[in-house]
Amino acid sequence: MHEISKSVVKKDHEAKVRGESVYVCDYPGEGVLTGKMLHSKWAKAKILGVKVPELPEGYFYVDASDVPGDNNVNIVLDDTPVYCRETVEYIGEPIGMLCGPDEKEVDRLLKACEVEYEELEPELDMLAGKTNFFNYDFGHGDVEKAFKEADKIYEEVFRTGYQEQAYLETQSMMAEPEPDGRMFVHGSMQCAFYVHGAVARVLGCGPGGVHIFQDVTGGGFGGKEAFPSILACQVAVAAHKCQAPVRCVFDRREDLEFTSKRHPSICIYKAAVKDGKVTAIDADIIYNAGAYSTLSAVVLQRGLIAAIGIYNVPNVHIHGRAVKTNTSPCGAYRGFGAPQTYFAIEMFMDHIARDLGLDSLEFKRANFAKKGDTTSTGGKYHFHVPVPEMIEEVEQLCDYSKKRKLYAQKQTGRYRRGIGMSMYFHGAGFTGSGERDIIKAKAKLRKYADGTVEVLASNGEIGQGVRTTFPKIVAHELNIPLEKVYYSHPDTGRVPDSGPTVASRSLMIVGELLRRAAIKLRSIWKDGEEQEVEDNFKEPDFMIPFYLDKFQGDAYPTYAWGVNAIELEVDTFTGISKVLGAYASFDVGTPIDYNIVMGQMEGGFLQGIGYASIEKMDYDAKGRIRNNSFSDYLIPTTKDVTNLKCVLHVQEYPEGPYGAKGAGEVPLVGAPPAYLEAMEQALGGTKLYHVPFTPEDTVEAIVKNGI
Ligand code: MOS
Repeated sequence: MHEISKSVVKKDHEAKVRGESVYVCDYPGEGVLTGKMLHSKWAKAKILGVKVPELPEGYFYVDASDVPGDNNVNIVLDDTPVYCRETVEYIGEPIGMLCGPDEKEVDRLLKACEVEYEELEPELDMLAGKTNFFNYDFGHGDVEKAFKEADKIYEEVFRTGYQEQAYLETQSMMAEPEPDGRMFVHGSMQCAFYVHGAVARVLGCGPGGVHIFQDVTGGGFGGKEAFPSILACQVAVAAHKCQAPVRCVFDRREDLEFTSKRHPSICIYKAAVKDGKVTAIDADIIYNAGAYSTLSAVVLQRGLIAAIGIYNVPNVHIHGRAVKTNTSPCGAYRGFGAPQTYFAIEMFMDHIARDLGLDSLEFKRANFAKKGDTTSTGGKYHFHVPVPEMIEEVEQLCDYSKKRKLYAQKQTGRYRRGIGMSMYFHGAGFTGSGERDIIKAKAKLRKYADGTVEVLASNGEIGQGVRTTFPKIVAHELNIPLEKVYYSHPDTGRVPDSGPTVASRSLMIVGELLRRAAIKLRSIWKDGEEQEVEDNFKEPDFMIPFYLDKFQGDAYPTYAWGVNAIELEVDTFTGISKVLGAYASFDVGTPIDYNIVMGQMEGGFLQGIGYASIEKMDYDAKGRIRNNSFSDYLIPTTKDVTNLKCVLHVQEYPEGPYGAKGAGEVPLVGAPPAYLEAMEQALGGTKLYHVPFTPEDTVEAIVKNGI
């Protein structure tokens, strides 16, 4: 392994384990107003009026009429209002905010607010939804001809549910008017510059009028990619009106019910098979976007790009849409649209194989893409596809093939077992031309006279270790001790825009800019002087340019790869299943810190198992999310999967620092199909079509199929 992979103590470790880290809710409350949201009670309604009780001195009610600039939060489109317009579009939509010095009094006043609604009929069914926020259609080859010439044609429908990020720190944000007239907004977030752009627009003050600071952030997983822009705009408008600091900290219930989560999906797949090969895929993919479009465009894009999995399919037609419903807007969650379609394609391949009387792994293997093959978007796999070797590594971990055969035999008795395997990629970096055309990342190093070096970038520490790995790269290149290099939380007032902390991009893209900047600094280093160097993103030469209007080109420069196997045992009396083992090989290139990367792999894999099994979230007939605490939205812990083993398959990426690729998201993506393939075996070969697959679903399958 590369020398840089040697693990160090994370720079923020001590403060976090000692409980000394200051999160936004930890700042002293003196002089700070508490802001609490007045949430809509209905999924769709006209707001006829809000009767606010008489407010004591120092208390304020804030709504859309107080927005000095534009009442639209800039995300991808600008359709999300800061505070609601004439109608509310989902349960929980913020109508206004009540602010004041005493939290109990704020609660009392909030309860006394009377909203007069005219209820309207909400749209809650994504299949019936009439508004498509986004609609993409692309492909290659001659799909019609392939279906005509097929030996067999298959059609199946797959469904996936919500998944909630369940970060420990709820959404929390604070805004403080500064003496120089600027607005200072800080809190829990992934993307300081997203917040910056959004707040400046809402305050109508230009980019110089605000600066944003990322406080210590207790987990993001995608949930703090776009949502913090909305909350930041709301507190900034409140602070602007009150001319006092305003802090809003969501309670868990608000966070679970009213903030963004993974898009539920329905994936309708058709395949043509000839001579043991998939010759065509025709897929119709529907994501439930919720009430506003937020990040659905990009989430859907990623899902569609992954829609044919890692297979070399010569004829492809993919149609996808993100549909509006009157529910909480969905957003980013680790995997970002890909887990849905990987679930569909992996299960579909498994089902086709079984129908053909083939072993599912052998059938998948016969269809694998390899270096030089065309991707779903007409791009190219520029590098070796290491999946075959990774399958071998997983074999080594768990004796997969032997168990797969064993569990395929007829099982009797109360406890039955199964094992399943999935294989997939996760595109590293922003989708398509995003890095080149939208982000244009910049990163800086500032060397002080005493020889310490500060990293200046905008990527936030969200537990993934970037405060440690960025300095590690710089220290390594400058050949100075790690203690001499530091990276603070970003403040948009003093760091360049190196882009958001998303898309498994920070280390691969910005880490490489820092490595190059460090080489520059090394070459001009003068003791005792303050020096600054900068580096800017350049797209690698080998890339086939991506054009979103045609959905053609290289969607990513390279890919992280995953092979997962899950072995489980079902109690056929109770429906409860136990994961006997979860095994994975991940290729994220060179780990910049072995322990940090392993922590990401193990944690992400476990999150994926939760998504596959117990993390069931849904809304009722009125559109209200029924899970409002961690006792009715369960996430797995290490105790649920005691035997979880990951190995790293290191295939270096020449354009990433020391060969590193994006690592953040890949570990979550493949668990659902591996889990469900195992479940199918345990249930005597019953074909299954949805996740999460809960004990209730297991019991239903047992009863229905007379197992
Ligand atoms: Mo991420 S799920 O790209 O914040």
